[in-house]
Amino acid sequence: MPEPTVQRGLEDVVALESSLCFIDGRGGRLIYRGYDIRDLAANATFEEVAYLLWYGQLPNRGQLDELRQRLVMLRTLPPELLTILDRLPTTSSPMDVLRTAVSALALLEPTESQPGVTSIGGALRLTAALPSILGYYHRRRSGQPAPPTHPELSHAAYVLAVLRNGPIAPLDEKAMDVALTLHADHELNASTFAARVTASTLSDLYSAITSAIGTLKGPLHGGANERVMELLEEIQLPERTEEVVKAKLARHERIMGFGHRVYKVEDPRATILRDWSHRVGEEKGNLSYYDRLRRVEEVVHREKGLYPNVDLYSGSVYTLLDIPKDLFTPVFAVSRVTGWTAHVLEEYQDLRLIRPTSNYVGPTDLTYVPIDARP
Ligand code: CMC
Repeated sequence: MPEPTVQRGLEDVVALESSLCFIDGRGGRLIYRGYDIRDLAANATFEEVAYLLWYGQLPNRGQLDELRQRLVMLRTLPPELLTILDRLPTTSSPMDVLRTAVSALALLEPTESQPGVTSIGGALRLTAALPSILGYYHRRRSGQPAPPTHPELSHAAYVLAVLRNGPIAPLDEKAMDVALTLHADHELNASTFAARVTASTLSDLYSAITSAIGTLKGPLHGGANERVMELLEEIQLPERTEEVVKAKLARHERIMGFGHRVYKVEDPRATILRDWSHRVGEEKGNLSYYDRLRRVEEVVHREKGLYPNVDLYSGSVYTLLDIPKDLFTPVFAVSRVTGWTAHVLEEYQDLRLIRPTSNYVGPTDLTYVPIDARP
């Protein structure tokens, strides 16, 4: 029998069928349940997109109002969880806090976290709770009182209200809403795959989301936008861009915010966020991030032929919205939890244990040597 081919990183392996999200990597298109991301980013709200992912169709006005009300009601966290959050070191990484809090919530809310539960109750709960968890932790570490649940605010405005201070301009709210929409789902990316692997063992929704948060944390996935802002800090002046980027490439370092496993052209989310980085920058009279990023793009494309991905411009938008850098990846999770939960619910509907094999390359004929006889 011929040796099976190893697909390192499962590249190009089609693992399952899904009706949630389609990526046309060569055409640069991203589709949620039939709708182009450009159409959704321009016209829909994040709540509509969440409904679309969970229920498979856009809501009518009554359905959307009901969803909004349910999300608002679910923003309140149980006091036991607040006690746990109060005990965490204020130096903890917000992604670690999020992972720990979701895991703890499973103990406190056993009904929704039952294995194989296919109702969207848990999906709504986690989507509503994630900004509250982050807001509570962030305010506590900054010596501020716990944020109110702001029932009058949309999801995007609530995220802004708990993570920063000051009034929320309509453009800020729309920028955050677009960012949340763009990050909501992305086919079988690493964190979604992790969630589906967990769910495929018939484990519970909260365990699947805990796996996903741990997977999103890595800089090759959700953590890249923080590193993009670190690059801009290193560049400082636009005229230093060429020198700094080329030096990194000469050291074979990766430039964060570029390249993608699936897109062979520009990530359509990057195109939209580039525009928003410019719009928000112009509104706030600060185009310095946008200008440096444009130069980075130019150098990386010229030197390596790589295109931007979603992470290149998102950090600049969040910075302009006054969101601290270590909350960028958690904000990604605040959005992606809708896609993760939709995938887990889909997995439960058509469950098949995800269990690939590996090609063993180690020895097979060794004989056990007693410990005192070993060299
Ligand atoms: N900077 C410099 N070189 C790169 C980069 C980059 N960002 N991305 C790919 N390359 C090079 C890589 O070194 C390799 O070159 P060579 O063949 O000479 O060794 C070639 O391009 C192919 O790279 P690869 O690692 O085989 O490609 P991949 O499909 O495994 O990588 C990736 C995809 C996203 C991990 C990678 O492009 C990367 O590390 N990018 C930077 C991190 C980043 O921006 N991550 C966010 C991804 S988008 C958010 C999400 O959807 O999760």
